[in-house]
Formats: sequence, structure tokens, C-alpha cells
Amino acid sequence: MAMTYDVAIIGAGAAGMMAAFTAGRRGRSVVVLDHAKAPGEKIRISGGGRCNFTNIHAGPKNYISENPHFAKSALARYTPSDFIALVDRHKIAWHEKTLGQLFCDDSARDIIRMLLDEMRAAHVELKLSCEISDVAKNLDGFRLQTSDGTVLARNLVIASGGKSIPKMAATGFAYRIAEQFGLSVTETRPALVPLTLEPNLLSSLSDLAGVAVEADIAHGKTHFREAMLFTHRGLSGPAILQISSYWREGDEIVMSLEPDRDFAEILKSAKRDNGRQQVQTVLAQHLPKRLAQYLAETHKLERPLADLPDKALVALADQIRGWRLKPAGSEGYRTAEVTLGGIDTRKLDSRSMQAKDVPGLFFIGECVDVTGWLGGYNFQWAWASGHAAGESV
Ligand code: FDA
Repeated sequence: MAMTYDVAIIGAGAAGMMAAFTAGRRGRSVVVLDHAKAPGEKIRISGGGRCNFTNIHAGPKNYISENPHFAKSALARYTPSDFIALVDRHKIAWHEKTLGQLFCDDSARDIIRMLLDEMRAAHVELKLSCEISDVAKNLDGFRLQTSDGTVLARNLVIASGGKSIPKMAATGFAYRIAEQFGLSVTETRPALVPLTLEPNLLSSLSDLAGVAVEADIAHGKTHFREAMLFTHRGLSGPAILQISSYWREGDEIVMSLEPDRDFAEILKSAKRDNGRQQVQTVLAQHLPKRLAQYLAETHKLERPLADLPDKALVALADQIRGWRLKPAGSEGYRTAEVTLGGIDTRKLDSRSMQAKDVPGLFFIGECVDVTGWLGGYNFQWAWASGHAAGESV
């Protein structure tokens, strides 16, 4: 016997669960199917276990898409304040860390529990460890063949996420369904991901592994100012993850370390005040010691300031302010927080997330070509797009 619902949702992640209880509250019968053993696994590991669940500054400018206008409608109709109100109703304590990023005080599991409670209250059925082997459409809606039997639904919402972290059950399922129903998919690539360096450059920087510094990282006109980290594979930290969404193979990035400081002035005035000081000693007052040592060494300036022409000090300062570097690649989907690109938004209605040419078929969350910056923006997109679909099914 087939099980029949108004709405079937594939994916019990952030977007799928939001869509599920939004639709359930409107009286729709809803089933959520997921092949994983537990719901919301990415929520659980997000934000270092505390889930950066939204960003109070979230707006269309914080998202990358071939159509930057697409996200506007959904983001305007479900805002960070709406999600904060939900979190507050569930008495989950939270705090702002930096740059408008909101985190749970206690645990990301509180957010999962909240979403499950909302689903329960809205009479949503959840089927875990459920494999979907076939999706077909007929005049009445959709017929899904699953490891739990046949599921019939008038509406089908695809909320199966992107390709990042395959060991956490991420698949390209959404893209396959899109193609099956004639929707195109834009180029997908790992984003919010550490960048790697070619072996020679990496070995020259090997002493810096573990060093973190405040930096402004630029790719063309786009730049982010946050912490960056030298690693055993290359570069990481928030500023690098942000720029990775814009960087392409063969491109350079420009790093300005401790950008508020004028290192040319610092070095020249230190030379005037006390010429016996070593370059690395002066730099180490403003930069991590190992980085100061590395910079002095590579410029062959490990000498007292008095022995050095101002020209050499200015050249060193120029590198600190505009260090040009060509990453070799990225760590890929293994560590990427999100997938850039996805279901082409030209084929989706921006109010409802419904496929324009396939009535009843919706795509939400990370699988859509809308990718947020680091800092709670991706969950806000999941909530907003999930809400938009939940209101429309
Ligand atoms: P999501 O990936 O959450 O859910 C998809 C669901 O579909 C999964 O449960 C999966 O099992 C299921 N599924 C996949 N294929 C299927 C198939 N074939 N059949 C059945 N089910 C299938 N963002 C943010 O805003 N703040 C943060 O703090 C973080 N932190 C963070 C840390 C780490 C380590 C990662 C990897 C990512 C983040 N993110 C983040 C990004 C955030 O996790 C991501 O944008 C959302 O989880 C996307 O939500 P979705 O519901 O679209 O997909």
C-alpha cells in the first residue's frame, strides 16, 4: 500500500525541517525522508558545536549567485529576527560573537531539538535511514520508490543539500533530480574551504603552520577582514574561507597582515629611536613572532635597523601590506562548508522556490545556486528558503 501525503520532503537538514513544520502548521500532511540515521547532522557539527544559526546583518549582499536578485524575496519574508523569535520561544540561550554572528550558548543540538519539536507539533512524519531509489511524476503528483515503500505526494520538496562533506551523507541527489525534470545546474565547486599551496611555496612557509593573524584578504575588488591561519596544507581561517568562494584556479590573492598598522612608519621610526634593534624584534611587537622571523629572513634583513636603508624597510612593509600569493587549489568537498552554485535559479520562482515548469516540485537550501558568506548566512538561507516553500506547498 502506498503512503499518501500532501508534501514529501527529501532531506531532514536545516531547510527541509523548516519547510516541513511550516507546511505542517498550515494543515498539510507532510513526510520528511532522509537516508541518514539522524536529522540535522550538519547543524550538529556547525559553529564548532554551537551552531552559528543566523547573522543579524543577513541580506542579499551576503550571498553569491548567478542571479543576485533571486534570494531577496525569501530573505525579506523570513528574517533573522523571525528565527531569533523562534529560538527565544524555545528558551534557547544565545549570544552574538562578532560581526553579527549568533551562536547557541550551550549546544547546536538545541537547534535540532527545537526543529524536531516544531515538526512534532505540526504532525510531520520523519523517516530516517530511508533510501530513495526512484522519483516519477504523474498527473496527481509524485511517486517515490523508497526503502520504506512507495510514497505518493502532491508536492515534492528537494532539500538534500550540496556536495560538501560526503562522509556526512552529502550527495548530488538534488542536481540529479533537477536534471531529470529539465532544470539546469550551474557550475558547482567547494566553497568556504581552506586553500592549498604548491609544494615549494608550502615548504618555504612550513615554519608558519599554526600561526594566526588578523588580515584583509583580497581577490580583485572583493575583500574580507578577519583572522587567517597558516596550516600544514596552506591557508585557512575565516578570511581565507570567505575569499575561497570568489577565488578561481590560477588567480592570485593579496594578503594585508595587521592592516591597521603602517609597517613602513613603524620600522622607520624604530630605526630613528633605536637603530640597534633587529627588524624581527620590531615586527614581533605587532605580528606573531614566527611570522616576524620569517619575514625578516626571507627579505634577508636579520640585522640591526641602523644597517638597513629605508628602501629595504619599505619593501618589507609593502609585502606585509600587499603579500601576493597564488594558491594551488582548495581542500575540496572533504572540508568545504558549502557548495557554491547549484540549481539554476532562472528556473525557480523566487517567492515559492517552485520549479516554474514543473508544478509541485520545489528546491530549497544549499542545493540552490545561492551561497552565503561565512557567519550564519547559510543557515539563514536554509531557514528563509525552507519557509518560502513551506508557505507555498
Ligand atoms: P543539509 O546538508 O543540512 O541537509 C541535507 C539533508 O539531506 C541531510 O540530512 C542529508 O542526509 C540528506 N540527504 C542528502 N542526500 C540524500 C539522499 N540522496 N536521500 C535522502 N536524503 C539525503 N552554516 C551557517 O550558517 N553557520 C554555521 O555555523 C555553519 N557551520 C558549518 C560547519 C560545517 C563543518 C559545515 C560542513 C557546514 C556549516 N555551515 C554553517 C553550512 C550549513 O551547514 C549548510 O549551509 C546547511 O546545513 C544547508 O542546509 P540544507 O538543509 O540545505 O542541507
